[in-house]
Amino acid sequence: MANSQRKILVTSALPYANGPIHLGHMLEYIQTDIWSRFQKLRGHECHYICADDAHGTPIMLKAQQLGITPEEMIAQVQKEHEKDFADFNIQFDNFHSTHSDENRQLASDIYIKLRDNGYIKTKTISQLFDPEKSMFLPDRFVKGTCPRCKSEDQYGDNCDNCGATYSTTDLINPKSAVSGATPVMKDTEHFFFDLPAFEGMLKEWINSGSLQQEMANKLGEWFEQGLQQWDISRDAPYFGFEIPDAPGKFFYVWLDAPIGYMGSFKNLCDKRDDLNFDDFWAKDSTAEVYHFIGKDIVYFHSLFWPAMLDGAGLRKPTSVYAHGYVTVNGAKMSKSKGTFIKARTYLDNLDPEYLRYYYAAKLSSRIDDLDLNLEDFAQRVNSDLVGKLVNLASRTAGFISKRFDGKLAKINDTSLTTSFLAKQESIANFYETREYGKAMREIMTLADIANAYVADSAPWQLIKEDDKQEQAHQVCSNALNLFRILVTYLKPVLPKLAQDVEAFLQMELTWDNLDIDLAGHEIAKFKALMQRVEMKSIEAIIEASTENLQVTAEPEVKTEVKSPLEQDPISDEISFDDFAKIDLRIARIAKAEHVKEANKLLRLELDLGGETKQVFAGIKSAYAPEDLEGKLTVMVANLAPRQMRFGVSEGMVLAAGPGGKDLWIMEPHEGAQPGMKVK
Ligand code: MSP
Ligand code: ZN
Repeated sequence: MANSQRKILVTSALPYANGPIHLGHMLEYIQTDIWSRFQKLRGHECHYICADDAHGTPIMLKAQQLGITPEEMIAQVQKEHEKDFADFNIQFDNFHSTHSDENRQLASDIYIKLRDNGYIKTKTISQLFDPEKSMFLPDRFVKGTCPRCKSEDQYGDNCDNCGATYSTTDLINPKSAVSGATPVMKDTEHFFFDLPAFEGMLKEWINSGSLQQEMANKLGEWFEQGLQQWDISRDAPYFGFEIPDAPGKFFYVWLDAPIGYMGSFKNLCDKRDDLNFDDFWAKDSTAEVYHFIGKDIVYFHSLFWPAMLDGAGLRKPTSVYAHGYVTVNGAKMSKSKGTFIKARTYLDNLDPEYLRYYYAAKLSSRIDDLDLNLEDFAQRVNSDLVGKLVNLASRTAGFISKRFDGKLAKINDTSLTTSFLAKQESIANFYETREYGKAMREIMTLADIANAYVADSAPWQLIKEDDKQEQAHQVCSNALNLFRILVTYLKPVLPKLAQDVEAFLQMELTWDNLDIDLAGHEIAKFKALMQRVEMKSIEAIIEASTENLQVTAEPEVKTEVKSPLEQDPISDEISFDDFAKIDLRIARIAKAEHVKEANKLLRLELDLGGETKQVFAGIKSAYAPEDLEGKLTVMVANLAPRQMRFGVSEGMVLAAGPGGKDLWIMEPHEGAQPGMKVK
C-alpha cells in the first residue's frame, strides 16, 4: 500500500422521509458509494454513514393526510429507502434515522453547549398563524396572489410566474395551504443561533480546507451579503425534538438533520467494539470526515454545520463535496414527461450497474449539472460495458475451459500487463479526487487496447491450427489477465460485476493483488456477465413513470417543498463566475469540409496553436468550406466533447446573424494568434 492507512468517515445527505428515492437522489448515493468503496479497496478504514431525515412540517402534514402517525410513516418510508439503496448496491456501513435516541441525545448535548457558550439568542417574531389548525405556517404553506404580477395561487415567499421574491406578509389574499383559512399574524418567541459570531472561523476553515473552488466562491458571496442569525426553533405542533429548556418549542429540522450524521455513527459505534465515536468527532480528531451533498444544501453544510460543531467544541468536516443536479433528457425531471423516475421503477426494469457506470462516466469533481440522456445512456453502456469490457472475457474464456483445462498460461510477453498496471496510480488519483469520468475514460482506453490486441491476434483462428495452440493459450490468458485488471479498476463502480468476475476467475480482486501472476491458475466456466440495454426497457420506465402520475392524485399540500435556502441556486442568468469558466480562444481553421448526409454541418479542424480540435459547426448555409480554410475565428475551447452522429465535436465556433446565408463567424483582427485567450 502506497499510503498508510487512513481513518475516514463519509456521508451522503439524509433523504427526507416523506417520499421515494428517485434517480436524482441516486447520483449522490452512487457518487459517495463509489468513493467509499474505492477507499476500502485501497485498504483504508472507511465508514459510510447515512440515515433518513425524518423531522419537519412537511412530514408531519403528509402523515396526517395519510391518516397515520409520523412514526408509522417514517418507519415505512425508511424500509423502502433501505431496500432501494441495497438494490442499487449502495453499501452503507450504517443507515439510521434522525428520529432516534442517539440523535435526540446528541442534538440536546450540542444545543446545551451552544447555549452555555453564549451562541443562542431569543427574539420575539411575528409569523403567519393558521387559526383553524392552530399552527404557525412556514412560508411554503401559505398561498396567495403575487403582489407583483397578480397571478393567483403562488407560494408565500416567491412567485412561480414572475419570479418575484417577497415576504409572506406582502402576499395578497393569503390562505393557509393546510386548511384554506385566512392566516393571522401572531407573536412568538424563537431561538436563534448566532452564525455571525463564526465569520472569522468560517473564513479560515474555507481557506485552509479542501473545498471546491465553486463552493469557496459561493461562500464568498454569502459573506459579502452578511451572515444572519439563524432561526433554529419551531412552535408546536411540530414533528421533531422538543428543545430541552423550552416546552412547546422544537428544534427546526435543519438543526438536528446534520447531527443525524453523528447519530447514525453513534448507533454504529454502539454495535461495534472496534469503533470509538470520539476518535472521529472530538476537537483533536485526526480522522477525516467528508460530506457529499447536492448543490441546493451547501449553505447548511458549509456555514451552519461547521459553525455549530465549532461552537460546541467539536471538530469540523475535512471537506464538503457538492455535486450538481440530475436532469433527464436535457430538462428538469418531470412527472408529466415520465422523467421523474423513481429508483424502484428503474430497478424493476434495468440493472443498477448500468446507472452506476453512466453516472460515474459523467461525474467530475465540479458542481455542474449532469444530464441523464436515456439514449446516450443505452448507447454508452452497450458500447463500453458490453461491447468493450465484457466482450474481452466472452471472446476468450471459452477456449481456456474447452482447450486448456480451465488453466491460464504463464504469459511470455508481459508488456501489455505492465502498461495496464502503470495506470493504477493515475486511476486511483482520479477516484480520490472524484474525477470519475476521467477514470472511466482511462479504463475504457485500456479496454480498447486490449480488444485491439485480441482482434489482431485472432485466437479463434489460432485455435484451429495444431501448431498454434500455445499461442492461442497465450492470447486468451493475456486477455483474461488484462480483463481482471480492468475489472479491479472498475470494482468501486461495478461491485456486482466484480463479484461475478471474482467467481469466474476464482480469486478476490483487490488493489493489492493487481500485479499477481496467474500462471497455472484455474478459472471457472464463463457465464454471461451482462446484457445489452434494450430501448424497450427504457420505454417501459418512461411509461411506468408517467402512469404513476395518473394513479396518484396530486396531494393537496405539496410535500416536496424546500425552504428558500434549499432552492436550486442556478437560474437562467449566469454569474460572472459562470462566464469566467468559458474558455474563448482564437482558432485557425486548418481544414473545413462537407459532412456527408448533414444538411447544415461542416466539419472543421481548428488549430489552437499546437492543439487541434474537431468541431461540427452549423454554418454550411453561409460558407463554402474553401472560404473558411486559413481564417481565424473565435471558439469555445472548453466545451465538453459531444458525440454526434458523424463524430465527436470538441468545441463550438462563435457566429452571429439571423441565420441561413446571413451568418458570420467571428473574425478577430489580424495580430491574433491561434491559441490566444479572448478577453
Ligand atoms: N433532508 C435534506 C438533507 C439533510 S442532510 C443533513 C435533503 N433531502 S432530499 O431528500 O431533498 O435530498 C437528498 C440529497 O439528494 C440532497 O443532497 C439533494 O441535493 C440530492 N438531490 C435531490 N434531487 C436531486 C437531483 N435531481 N439531482 C441530484 N441530486 C439531487 O435535502
Ligand atoms: Zn408574480
